[in-house]
Amino acid sequence: MSERNPDSRRSTEGWSPPQWTRSQADGIERTPETVAPVIEPPPEDPAADLHIWDTWLLRDRHGEIAEIDGWRVLFSLTAPEELLPGKRHDVAEIRFFYSRNGTEWHGGDRVFEADALGQRQWAGSALYDDGELYLYYTAAGDESADDLNYTQRIAVGHGGRFEADEDGVWSEGPWRHETILEPDGEWYENEDQSRGMIYTFRDPWFFEDPETGETNLLFEANTPVPVDSDRCDGDEAQTEFNGSVGVAASPSGDPLDWELEPPLLDGVCVNQELERPHVVPRDGRYYLFFSSHMHTFSPGLHGFDGLYGFVADSLRGEYEPLNGSGLVVTNPASVPFQAYSWMAFPYRDEILVQSFYNYREFAGDSLDGIADLSEAEQRRRFGGTLSPTLRLDVDGDRTRIHGTLAHWHIPTSEEELPDTDEYRPPDEVG
Ligand code: FRU
Repeated sequence: MSERNPDSRRSTEGWSPPQWTRSQADGIERTPETVAPVIEPPPEDPAADLHIWDTWLLRDRHGEIAEIDGWRVLFSLTAPEELLPGKRHDVAEIRFFYSRNGTEWHGGDRVFEADALGQRQWAGSALYDDGELYLYYTAAGDESADDLNYTQRIAVGHGGRFEADEDGVWSEGPWRHETILEPDGEWYENEDQSRGMIYTFRDPWFFEDPETGETNLLFEANTPVPVDSDRCDGDEAQTEFNGSVGVAASPSGDPLDWELEPPLLDGVCVNQELERPHVVPRDGRYYLFFSSHMHTFSPGLHGFDGLYGFVADSLRGEYEPLNGSGLVVTNPASVPFQAYSWMAFPYRDEILVQSFYNYREFAGDSLDGIADLSEAEQRRRFGGTLSPTLRLDVDGDRTRIHGTLAHWHIPTSEEELPDTDEYRPPDEVG
Protein backbone atom coordinates (compact mmCIF):
# COMPACT_ATOMS: atom_id res chain seq x y z
CA MET A 1 0.00 0.00 0.00
CA SER A 2 1.16 3.52 -0.72
CA GLU A 3 2.53 6.07 1.69
CA ARG A 4 2.37 9.82 1.49
CA ASN A 5 4.68 11.26 -1.09
CA PRO A 6 7.74 12.84 0.60
CA ASP A 7 8.64 14.67 -2.63
CA SER A 8 5.19 16.04 -3.17
CA ARG A 9 5.14 19.07 -5.37
CA ARG A 10 3.75 20.93 -2.42
CA SER A 11 5.25 21.09 0.98
CA THR A 12 2.55 21.62 3.56
CA GLU A 13 4.63 24.03 5.56
CA GLY A 14 2.99 27.42 5.47
CA TRP A 15 0.70 26.22 2.74
CA SER A 16 -2.99 25.53 2.88
CA PRO A 17 -5.23 24.32 0.10
CA PRO A 18 -7.79 26.54 -1.60
CA GLN A 19 -10.77 27.02 0.68
CA TRP A 20 -14.49 26.90 0.39
CA THR A 21 -15.01 29.89 2.68
CA ARG A 22 -17.86 30.72 5.02
CA SER A 23 -18.58 33.94 3.16
CA GLN A 24 -18.93 32.02 -0.13
CA ALA A 25 -21.16 29.39 1.48
CA ASP A 26 -23.21 32.12 3.12
CA GLY A 27 -24.43 33.02 -0.38
CA ILE A 28 -26.06 29.61 -1.00
CA GLU A 29 -29.65 30.07 -2.15
CA ARG A 30 -32.08 28.34 -4.46
CA THR A 31 -32.18 30.08 -7.85
CA PRO A 32 -33.91 29.30 -11.18
CA GLU A 33 -30.51 28.17 -12.50
CA THR A 34 -29.85 25.63 -9.74
CA VAL A 35 -33.19 24.05 -8.79
CA ALA A 36 -34.05 20.73 -10.44
CA PRO A 37 -37.68 19.81 -11.23
CA VAL A 38 -39.81 17.66 -8.92
CA ILE A 39 -39.14 14.02 -9.81
CA GLU A 40 -41.94 11.61 -10.71
CA PRO A 41 -41.34 7.88 -10.26
CA PRO A 42 -40.03 6.22 -13.44
CA PRO A 43 -42.57 4.35 -15.61
CA GLU A 44 -40.31 1.32 -15.37
CA ASP A 45 -37.53 0.56 -12.93
CA PRO A 46 -34.86 -1.81 -14.26
CA ALA A 47 -33.87 -2.69 -10.70
CA ALA A 48 -37.18 -2.73 -8.84
CA ASP A 49 -35.96 -5.42 -6.41
CA LEU A 50 -33.01 -3.31 -5.29
CA HIS A 51 -32.42 -0.02 -3.56
CA ILE A 52 -29.98 1.84 -5.79
CA TRP A 53 -27.95 4.88 -4.81
CA ASP A 54 -24.42 6.12 -5.66
CA THR A 55 -23.72 5.26 -9.30
CA TRP A 56 -20.75 5.58 -11.66
CA LEU A 57 -19.81 4.61 -15.21
CA LEU A 58 -17.07 2.43 -16.61
CA ARG A 59 -14.71 4.91 -18.25
CA ASP A 60 -11.33 4.83 -19.93
CA ARG A 61 -8.16 6.60 -18.82
CA HIS A 62 -9.25 9.73 -20.71
CA GLY A 63 -12.60 9.86 -18.94
CA GLU A 64 -14.58 8.68 -21.97
CA ILE A 65 -17.43 6.24 -21.33
CA ALA A 66 -15.93 2.82 -22.11
CA GLU A 67 -17.64 -0.07 -23.88
CA ILE A 68 -17.25 -3.81 -23.53
CA ASP A 69 -18.23 -5.30 -26.91
CA GLY A 70 -20.65 -2.44 -27.49
CA TRP A 71 -22.10 -2.44 -23.96
CA ARG A 72 -21.77 0.49 -21.55
CA VAL A 73 -21.47 -0.50 -17.92
CA LEU A 74 -22.89 1.29 -14.89
CA PHE A 75 -21.99 0.47 -11.27
CA SER A 76 -24.26 1.20 -8.31
CA LEU A 77 -24.32 0.77 -4.57
CA THR A 78 -27.22 -1.52 -3.88
CA ALA A 79 -29.18 -3.22 -1.09
CA PRO A 80 -32.22 -5.52 -1.15
CA GLU A 81 -35.47 -3.62 -1.59
CA GLU A 82 -37.03 -5.33 1.49
CA LEU A 83 -34.55 -3.53 3.74
CA LEU A 84 -35.41 -0.19 5.33
CA PRO A 85 -33.70 2.43 3.13
CA GLY A 86 -31.92 3.97 6.13
CA LYS A 87 -30.18 0.63 6.76
CA ARG A 88 -28.79 0.30 3.25
CA HIS A 89 -25.37 1.83 4.01
CA ASP A 90 -24.69 -1.04 6.44
CA VAL A 91 -25.00 -3.76 3.82
CA ALA A 92 -24.06 -1.93 0.60
CA GLU A 93 -22.65 -3.98 -2.23
CA ILE A 94 -21.66 -3.00 -5.76
CA ARG A 95 -23.75 -4.35 -8.62
CA PHE A 96 -23.56 -3.53 -12.31
CA PHE A 97 -25.91 -2.82 -15.18
CA TYR A 98 -25.23 -2.73 -18.91
CA SER A 99 -26.84 -1.05 -21.89
CA ARG A 100 -26.29 -0.75 -25.63
CA ASN A 101 -28.20 2.48 -26.09
CA GLY A 102 -27.84 4.32 -22.75
CA THR A 103 -31.59 4.21 -22.06
CA GLU A 104 -32.46 0.54 -21.47
CA TRP A 105 -30.36 -1.01 -18.72
CA HIS A 106 -30.19 -4.69 -17.81
CA GLY A 107 -28.47 -6.79 -15.20
CA GLY A 108 -27.99 -6.06 -11.54
CA ASP A 109 -25.56 -8.84 -10.63
CA ARG A 110 -22.89 -8.41 -8.00
CA VAL A 111 -19.50 -7.40 -9.36
CA PHE A 112 -17.45 -9.22 -6.73
CA GLU A 113 -17.84 -12.41 -4.77
CA ALA A 114 -17.93 -12.14 -0.99
CA ASP A 115 -14.15 -11.56 -0.88
CA ALA A 116 -14.22 -7.78 -1.48
CA LEU A 117 -12.52 -5.81 1.32
CA GLY A 118 -14.47 -4.19 4.13
CA GLN A 119 -17.65 -5.26 5.86
CA ARG A 120 -19.42 -3.62 2.94
CA GLN A 121 -18.46 -1.57 -0.11
CA TRP A 122 -19.15 2.10 -0.68
CA ALA A 123 -18.70 4.37 -3.66
CA GLY A 124 -15.86 4.38 -6.15
CA SER A 125 -15.04 4.57 -9.83
CA ALA A 126 -14.24 2.11 -12.60
CA LEU A 127 -11.38 2.24 -15.09
CA TYR A 128 -11.02 0.16 -18.25
CA ASP A 129 -7.42 0.58 -19.34
CA ASP A 130 -5.50 -1.41 -21.91
CA GLY A 131 -7.88 -4.35 -21.59
CA GLU A 132 -7.59 -4.39 -17.78
CA LEU A 133 -10.24 -3.41 -15.25
CA TYR A 134 -9.56 -1.45 -12.09
CA LEU A 135 -12.62 -1.19 -9.88
CA TYR A 136 -11.91 1.34 -7.15
CA TYR A 137 -14.16 1.33 -4.10
CA THR A 138 -14.36 2.21 -0.44
CA ALA A 139 -13.81 -0.70 1.92
CA ALA A 140 -16.19 0.41 4.69
CA GLY A 141 -15.96 -1.24 8.08
CA ASP A 142 -13.12 -3.38 9.36
CA GLU A 143 -13.95 -6.96 8.40
CA SER A 144 -11.78 -8.36 11.19
CA ALA A 145 -14.08 -6.77 13.83
CA ASP A 146 -17.34 -8.37 14.98
CA ASP A 147 -19.35 -5.20 15.29
CA LEU A 148 -20.55 -2.97 12.50
CA ASN A 149 -18.06 -0.11 12.29
CA TYR A 150 -17.22 2.90 10.15
CA THR A 151 -13.53 2.53 9.35
CA GLN A 152 -12.88 3.51 5.75
CA ARG A 153 -10.02 2.73 3.40
CA ILE A 154 -9.63 2.99 -0.34
CA ALA A 155 -9.37 -0.27 -2.21
CA VAL A 156 -9.26 -1.67 -5.72
CA GLY A 157 -10.44 -4.90 -7.30
CA HIS A 158 -8.43 -5.94 -10.36
CA GLY A 159 -7.34 -8.99 -12.32
CA GLY A 160 -10.94 -9.95 -13.19
CA ARG A 161 -12.76 -9.43 -16.48
CA PHE A 162 -16.09 -8.46 -17.87
CA GLU A 163 -17.17 -10.90 -20.56
CA ALA A 164 -19.92 -10.06 -23.02
CA ASP A 165 -22.02 -11.58 -25.78
CA GLU A 166 -25.09 -10.31 -27.62
CA ASP A 167 -27.28 -11.03 -24.60
CA GLY A 168 -25.29 -9.16 -21.99
CA VAL A 169 -22.28 -8.72 -19.77
CA TRP A 170 -21.01 -10.75 -16.83
CA SER A 171 -18.21 -10.42 -14.30
CA GLU A 172 -15.55 -13.12 -14.45
CA GLY A 173 -13.30 -13.37 -11.41
CA PRO A 174 -11.20 -13.97 -9.56
CA TRP A 175 -10.73 -10.34 -8.59
CA ARG A 176 -7.70 -9.46 -6.50
CA HIS A 177 -8.43 -6.91 -3.79
CA GLU A 178 -5.91 -4.48 -2.36
CA THR A 179 -6.04 -1.55 0.02
CA ILE A 180 -4.37 1.30 -1.84
CA LEU A 181 -4.77 4.31 0.45
CA GLU A 182 -5.31 5.02 4.14
CA PRO A 183 -5.34 8.41 5.88
CA ASP A 184 -1.91 9.64 6.99
CA GLY A 185 -3.14 11.71 9.96
CA GLU A 186 -1.45 14.88 8.69
CA TRP A 187 -3.07 15.85 5.45
CA TYR A 188 -5.94 13.44 5.98
CA GLU A 189 -7.73 12.83 9.27
CA ASN A 190 -7.85 9.29 10.58
CA GLU A 191 -10.57 7.74 12.68
CA ASP A 192 -8.86 8.46 16.02
CA GLN A 193 -8.51 12.14 15.24
CA SER A 194 -12.12 12.69 14.31
CA ARG A 195 -13.99 14.88 16.80
CA GLY A 196 -17.39 15.56 15.31
CA MET A 197 -19.37 13.42 12.94
CA ILE A 198 -17.61 10.31 11.70
CA TYR A 199 -14.50 11.00 9.59
CA THR A 200 -14.51 10.33 5.87
CA PHE A 201 -11.88 8.63 3.72
CA ARG A 202 -13.73 7.28 0.74
CA ASP A 203 -15.13 7.54 -2.78
CA PRO A 204 -12.00 7.14 -4.99
CA TRP A 205 -12.31 8.74 -8.43
CA PHE A 206 -9.74 8.08 -11.17
CA PHE A 207 -8.73 11.17 -13.14
CA GLU A 208 -6.03 11.58 -15.74
CA ASP A 209 -5.17 15.22 -16.35
CA PRO A 210 -5.65 15.88 -20.09
CA GLU A 211 -3.19 18.80 -20.05
CA THR A 212 -0.31 17.25 -18.10
CA GLY A 213 -0.99 13.52 -18.53
CA GLU A 214 -0.66 13.05 -14.76
CA THR A 215 -2.61 10.21 -13.20
CA ASN A 216 -4.66 11.05 -10.09
CA LEU A 217 -7.14 9.55 -7.71
CA LEU A 218 -9.49 12.00 -6.00
CA PHE A 219 -11.33 11.07 -2.81
CA GLU A 220 -13.48 12.46 0.00
CA ALA A 221 -11.61 13.19 3.23
CA ASN A 222 -11.26 15.47 6.24
CA THR A 223 -8.47 17.84 7.25
CA PRO A 224 -7.15 17.27 10.79
CA VAL A 225 -7.84 20.43 12.82
CA PRO A 226 -6.59 20.44 16.45
CA VAL A 227 -9.03 21.65 19.13
CA ASP A 228 -6.83 24.66 19.88
CA SER A 229 -6.53 25.68 16.23
CA ASP A 230 -7.16 29.31 15.39
CA ARG A 231 -8.94 28.35 12.20
CA CYS A 232 -12.63 29.34 12.18
CA ASP A 233 -11.77 32.41 14.29
CA GLY A 234 -11.29 30.11 17.26
CA ASP A 235 -14.88 28.82 17.11
CA GLU A 236 -14.30 25.25 18.26
CA ALA A 237 -17.70 23.98 17.13
CA GLN A 238 -17.00 25.06 13.57
CA THR A 239 -13.64 23.29 13.45
CA GLU A 240 -15.42 19.94 13.65
CA PHE A 241 -16.66 20.61 10.11
CA ASN A 242 -13.51 19.87 8.16
CA GLY A 243 -14.34 18.22 4.82
CA SER A 244 -11.74 18.10 2.07
CA VAL A 245 -11.22 16.87 -1.45
CA GLY A 246 -8.19 14.61 -1.25
CA VAL A 247 -5.91 13.49 -4.04
CA ALA A 248 -3.26 10.85 -4.64
CA ALA A 249 -0.93 10.72 -7.63
CA SER A 250 0.54 7.82 -9.55
CA PRO A 251 3.86 9.13 -10.90
CA SER A 252 4.30 6.10 -13.19
CA GLY A 253 0.67 6.13 -14.31
CA ASP A 254 0.21 2.62 -12.84
CA PRO A 255 -3.44 2.38 -11.71
CA LEU A 256 -2.36 0.37 -8.63
CA ASP A 257 0.43 2.57 -7.30
CA TRP A 258 -0.58 5.74 -5.44
CA GLU A 259 1.07 8.36 -3.26
CA LEU A 260 -0.93 10.76 -1.13
CA GLU A 261 -0.70 14.42 -2.01
CA PRO A 262 -2.16 17.37 -0.09
CA PRO A 263 -5.86 18.15 -0.65
CA LEU A 264 -7.13 20.00 -3.71
CA LEU A 265 -9.65 21.99 -1.68
CA ASP A 266 -10.97 22.08 1.83
CA GLY A 267 -14.14 23.21 3.51
CA VAL A 268 -12.81 23.63 7.06
CA CYS A 269 -15.30 25.75 9.10
CA VAL A 270 -17.87 25.17 6.32
CA ASN A 271 -18.84 21.55 5.77
CA GLN A 272 -17.93 18.08 7.00
CA GLU A 273 -18.60 16.04 3.86
CA LEU A 274 -17.38 16.90 0.35
CA GLU A 275 -18.67 13.66 -1.16
CA ARG A 276 -17.73 11.80 -4.32
CA PRO A 277 -15.42 14.52 -5.67
CA HIS A 278 -14.74 14.39 -9.41
CA VAL A 279 -13.41 16.65 -12.15
CA VAL A 280 -14.75 17.51 -15.59
CA PRO A 281 -12.08 19.18 -17.76
CA ARG A 282 -13.46 21.78 -20.13
CA ASP A 283 -11.92 24.57 -22.23
CA GLY A 284 -8.55 23.99 -20.53
CA ARG A 285 -10.12 24.51 -17.10
CA TYR A 286 -10.93 22.07 -14.30
CA TYR A 287 -14.47 21.82 -12.96
CA LEU A 288 -14.39 20.12 -9.57
CA PHE A 289 -17.73 18.81 -8.32
CA PHE A 290 -18.88 17.11 -5.12
CA SER A 291 -22.15 16.41 -3.31
CA SER A 292 -22.98 17.59 0.15
CA HIS A 293 -25.80 17.54 2.66
CA MET A 294 -27.85 20.15 4.46
CA HIS A 295 -26.98 18.58 7.83
CA THR A 296 -23.21 18.62 7.26
CA PHE A 297 -22.91 22.41 7.05
CA SER A 298 -21.19 24.04 10.00
CA PRO A 299 -23.25 25.98 12.59
CA GLY A 300 -24.47 29.33 11.27
CA LEU A 301 -24.53 28.24 7.61
CA HIS A 302 -27.56 27.05 5.73
CA GLY A 303 -26.96 24.90 2.68
CA PHE A 304 -28.90 22.19 0.90
CA ASP A 305 -28.47 18.62 -0.22
CA GLY A 306 -26.89 19.55 -3.54
CA LEU A 307 -24.15 19.35 -6.12
CA TYR A 308 -21.45 21.92 -5.46
CA GLY A 309 -18.73 22.98 -7.89
CA PHE A 310 -15.52 24.95 -8.23
CA VAL A 311 -13.32 25.89 -11.18
CA ALA A 312 -9.55 26.39 -11.50
CA ASP A 313 -6.98 26.74 -14.28
CA SER A 314 -5.11 23.62 -13.24
CA LEU A 315 -5.97 20.52 -11.22
CA ARG A 316 -4.00 21.82 -8.24
CA GLY A 317 -5.02 25.42 -8.92
CA GLU A 318 -6.82 28.16 -7.03
CA TYR A 319 -10.40 26.92 -7.06
CA GLU A 320 -13.19 29.51 -7.21
CA PRO A 321 -16.78 28.54 -6.43
CA LEU A 322 -19.25 28.24 -9.31
CA ASN A 323 -22.16 30.67 -9.12
CA GLY A 324 -20.48 32.58 -6.31
CA SER A 325 -21.44 30.15 -3.53
CA GLY A 326 -20.53 26.77 -5.07
CA LEU A 327 -24.16 25.60 -5.45
CA VAL A 328 -24.75 24.02 -8.88
CA VAL A 329 -27.82 21.76 -8.46
CA THR A 330 -30.28 21.32 -5.63
CA ASN A 331 -33.76 19.97 -5.00
CA PRO A 332 -36.98 22.00 -4.87
CA ALA A 333 -37.86 23.39 -1.42
CA SER A 334 -40.97 21.16 -1.24
CA VAL A 335 -38.85 17.98 -1.64
CA PRO A 336 -35.40 18.96 -0.38
CA PHE A 337 -34.15 15.35 -0.23
CA GLN A 338 -35.50 14.03 -3.52
CA ALA A 339 -32.11 13.44 -5.18
CA TYR A 340 -28.53 12.99 -4.03
CA SER A 341 -25.04 11.88 -5.04
CA TRP A 342 -24.73 13.74 -8.30
CA MET A 343 -22.18 12.74 -10.93
CA ALA A 344 -21.28 15.25 -13.66
CA PHE A 345 -19.91 14.13 -17.02
CA PRO A 346 -19.31 15.91 -20.32
CA TYR A 347 -21.64 15.77 -23.29
CA ARG A 348 -20.51 17.88 -26.27
CA ASP A 349 -20.48 21.50 -25.09
CA GLU A 350 -22.65 20.89 -22.04
CA ILE A 351 -22.37 18.84 -18.84
CA LEU A 352 -24.84 16.13 -17.85
CA VAL A 353 -25.58 15.30 -14.25
CA GLN A 354 -26.77 11.91 -13.06
CA SER A 355 -27.98 11.23 -9.50
CA PHE A 356 -30.22 8.84 -7.56
CA TYR A 357 -33.84 9.31 -6.57
CA ASN A 358 -33.76 9.63 -2.79
CA TYR A 359 -36.74 10.60 -0.55
CA ARG A 360 -39.85 11.96 -2.22
CA GLU A 361 -42.89 13.58 -0.63
CA PHE A 362 -40.79 14.55 2.33
CA ALA A 363 -40.23 18.19 3.27
CA GLY A 364 -38.50 19.72 6.29
CA ASP A 365 -35.05 20.58 7.46
CA SER A 366 -33.75 17.13 8.15
CA LEU A 367 -34.26 13.54 7.15
CA ASP A 368 -34.46 12.53 10.82
CA GLY A 369 -38.27 12.58 10.75
CA ILE A 370 -38.34 9.79 8.21
CA ALA A 371 -37.81 7.25 11.01
CA ASP A 372 -41.17 8.28 12.54
CA LEU A 373 -43.04 7.02 9.48
CA SER A 374 -44.23 3.43 9.25
CA GLU A 375 -41.72 1.05 7.71
CA ALA A 376 -43.93 0.57 4.65
CA GLU A 377 -44.15 4.33 4.22
CA GLN A 378 -40.37 4.75 4.58
CA ARG A 379 -39.93 2.24 1.78
CA ARG A 380 -42.62 3.85 -0.37
CA ARG A 381 -41.06 7.29 -0.11
CA PHE A 382 -37.58 6.10 -1.02
CA GLY A 383 -37.00 6.37 -4.79
CA GLY A 384 -34.04 3.98 -4.71
CA THR A 385 -33.45 4.23 -8.46
CA LEU A 386 -31.72 6.63 -10.83
CA SER A 387 -33.11 10.15 -11.17
CA PRO A 388 -33.76 11.92 -14.46
CA THR A 389 -30.41 13.09 -15.86
CA LEU A 390 -30.02 16.88 -15.83
CA ARG A 391 -28.50 19.02 -18.58
CA LEU A 392 -26.24 21.89 -17.51
CA ASP A 393 -25.08 24.88 -19.50
CA VAL A 394 -21.70 26.06 -18.30
CA ASP A 395 -20.30 29.49 -19.05
CA GLY A 396 -17.04 30.20 -17.21
CA ASP A 397 -17.92 30.17 -13.52
CA ARG A 398 -21.72 30.22 -14.04
CA THR A 399 -23.96 27.19 -14.58
CA ARG A 400 -27.64 26.76 -15.44
CA ILE A 401 -29.88 23.70 -15.59
CA HIS A 402 -31.37 23.86 -19.07
CA GLY A 403 -33.11 20.53 -19.50
CA THR A 404 -33.77 17.04 -18.22
CA LEU A 405 -33.60 13.57 -19.72
CA ALA A 406 -35.42 10.45 -18.52
CA HIS A 407 -34.50 8.38 -15.46
CA TRP A 408 -31.58 6.09 -16.37
CA HIS A 409 -30.80 7.98 -19.59
CA ILE A 410 -27.00 8.15 -19.85
CA PRO A 411 -26.14 9.23 -23.41
CA THR A 412 -22.66 9.26 -24.88
CA SER A 413 -21.60 12.19 -27.00
CA GLU A 414 -22.55 10.30 -30.19
CA GLU A 415 -26.19 10.37 -29.20
CA GLU A 416 -28.20 13.34 -30.50
CA LEU A 417 -30.09 15.09 -27.71
CA PRO A 418 -32.94 17.48 -28.50
CA ASP A 419 -31.80 21.03 -28.95
CA THR A 420 -34.13 22.34 -26.31
CA ASP A 421 -34.02 25.27 -24.01
CA GLU A 422 -37.48 24.95 -22.60
CA TYR A 423 -36.57 24.10 -19.06
CA ARG A 424 -38.57 26.01 -16.48
CA PRO A 425 -37.56 25.55 -12.85
CA PRO A 426 -40.24 24.83 -10.25
CA ASP A 427 -42.03 27.91 -8.86
CA GLU A 428 -40.59 27.52 -5.41
CA VAL A 429 -37.02 28.59 -5.91
CA GLY A 430 -36.65 31.27 -3.25
C1 FRU B 1 -22.92 9.41 -0.67
C2 FRU B 1 -22.25 8.43 0.26
C3 FRU B 1 -20.84 8.13 -0.21
C4 FRU B 1 -20.59 6.76 0.34
C5 FRU B 1 -21.97 6.11 0.27
C6 FRU B 1 -22.27 5.18 1.39
O1 FRU B 1 -24.22 9.08 -1.02
O2 FRU B 1 -22.23 8.92 1.58
O3 FRU B 1 -19.91 9.08 0.24
O4 FRU B 1 -19.63 6.09 -0.40
O5 FRU B 1 -22.90 7.17 0.27
O6 FRU B 1 -23.48 4.55 1.22
